[in-house]
Amino acid sequence: MKVAFPVQMRRIDELIIERGIPSVLLMENASRSVLEEVLKYPTVKEIAILCGGGNNGGDGYAIGRLLLNAGKTVSVIECYHPSTPDAIFNASLFVSFGGGIHACEESTVESLLSRADMVIDSIFGTGFHGELQGRVAELVEYINGLKSVKLAVDIPSGVSGFDGSVRGIAFRADKTVTFGAGKVGHYLYPGRDYCGEVVVRSEGFSREILDRQLDSSVIDEELVLELLPERHADSHKGTYGAVLIVGGSEIYTGAPFLSALGALRSGCGLTYTYTPPEAAAVIRSNLPEVIAIVGKGPHIFRDDLDTIVEIAKKADSIVIGPGIGRNEETAETVLELLKVFSKSSMVLDADGLYALSKDLTVLSRTEDILLTPHPGEFRRLCGETDLKSLMDFCENFHCRVILKGSSSVLCNPYGKLSINITGTTGLAKGGSGDLLSGTIGSFAAQTGDLERAGILGMYFMGKAAELSDESDASNTASSIGKEYSRVFSCLVE
Ligand code: APR
Repeated sequence: MKVAFPVQMRRIDELIIERGIPSVLLMENASRSVLEEVLKYPTVKEIAILCGGGNNGGDGYAIGRLLLNAGKTVSVIECYHPSTPDAIFNASLFVSFGGGIHACEESTVESLLSRADMVIDSIFGTGFHGELQGRVAELVEYINGLKSVKLAVDIPSGVSGFDGSVRGIAFRADKTVTFGAGKVGHYLYPGRDYCGEVVVRSEGFSREILDRQLDSSVIDEELVLELLPERHADSHKGTYGAVLIVGGSEIYTGAPFLSALGALRSGCGLTYTYTPPEAAAVIRSNLPEVIAIVGKGPHIFRDDLDTIVEIAKKADSIVIGPGIGRNEETAETVLELLKVFSKSSMVLDADGLYALSKDLTVLSRTEDILLTPHPGEFRRLCGETDLKSLMDFCENFHCRVILKGSSSVLCNPYGKLSINITGTTGLAKGGSGDLLSGTIGSFAAQTGDLERAGILGMYFMGKAAELSDESDASNTASSIGKEYSRVFSCLVE
């Protein structure tokens, strides 16, 4: 499902208006779709609508008029004076249809809000920046404590449509009705938490314009089915590629095993691992299908380089880092590997990223690399963890990064995002990152396309956690890896 940045949505509105649909008609269409969503709550009779001064506020006045005409009791609370032509027009229409407007400073506003069965937030939409303040912040905080149904128009006020960030207070919606396409901020935390159910209504929007203007997506089943490599009856292990996983150390003996599990279970033809002896022992006793090649140990050292390079000749993709540790010579060896494999399809994870942080210039020589940091690891590379910094980093170093989290984001060098919203808290546990890197390595080996592999890997691991019979608290990466079969079954059905 395509998603939009606020600036892209503004452009889409402009293009539709240029084609001849007046902006006020766009507003009417959007408001009509909100009316339909409100009418899905038959017990809601009395509705309070908070209106801002921009076009989001304009939507609110139009929604108010439509609800009045549908026989509901409606009060508008004016948070800012209408300031755009369409907001001014719709505010006056609301009044001429008998609607009542209350200034937000009025002392009776709280009792009016507490009486309402539903509160609609039409204060700010995609034009919001900064922080809710003063009386508006006070009212939003008050509403968040009420038991009534809360509906946000386009995006909850206080949430950034660009990246889902929230400074201070934001409206906590049960449902958010958004127009044309979901906004990036709907799907990234903390914003995702404030939106409740997100309903995308596209009436009046041109599919062709949306498709042409938008390239970022929230990963859904439709996209995954498009990207999933086919399996042919007439095939052999070579058809599905080979991945090499390099990692493990004295302390982290299980990480390469988890990575190899992800690779095996996601369809790769051959999985090689290169690890110190203790990590190889874990793999050999748990995953006999893996070709576990044993390094000299107890870490990956410079002496291992030639053998790794030799094995890599058989691999279509290479994963470096799971459990590799922070030994200084290991870090130097990782940097050497990145130089040697500059033309290979590579996933760099965990302490492989620690090594990279010692010399980011190596990135300028790699042609096809995907980094998979969690926010702590990304901070070490970039200094920040916000979306804008992620996009700048990918552009500057011409690389792909998956910034892992409750929503994970894959960013490519051209600012295209793929947002993963599958997953459970069962993944908030050591080992899931290892599982993910191996899964991505496997899909990269099968498809030859790291971006496609990253999208599939994120979706698979999250979906497997969702489909698992284990409770979230007790789930483990090794159990989740074994559930990939259910994800395949769900997709094929
Ligand atoms: N405090 C005060 N004013 C603010 C703040 C803030 N923190 N942030 C933005 N504004 C002001 C802007 O300067 C602008 O005047 O609010 C207005 C933006 O309001 P919006 O209604 O969010 O933006 P606008 O571009 O007018 O409309 C976009 O219209 O298509 C509908 O609902 C849809 O979200 C969409 C909205």
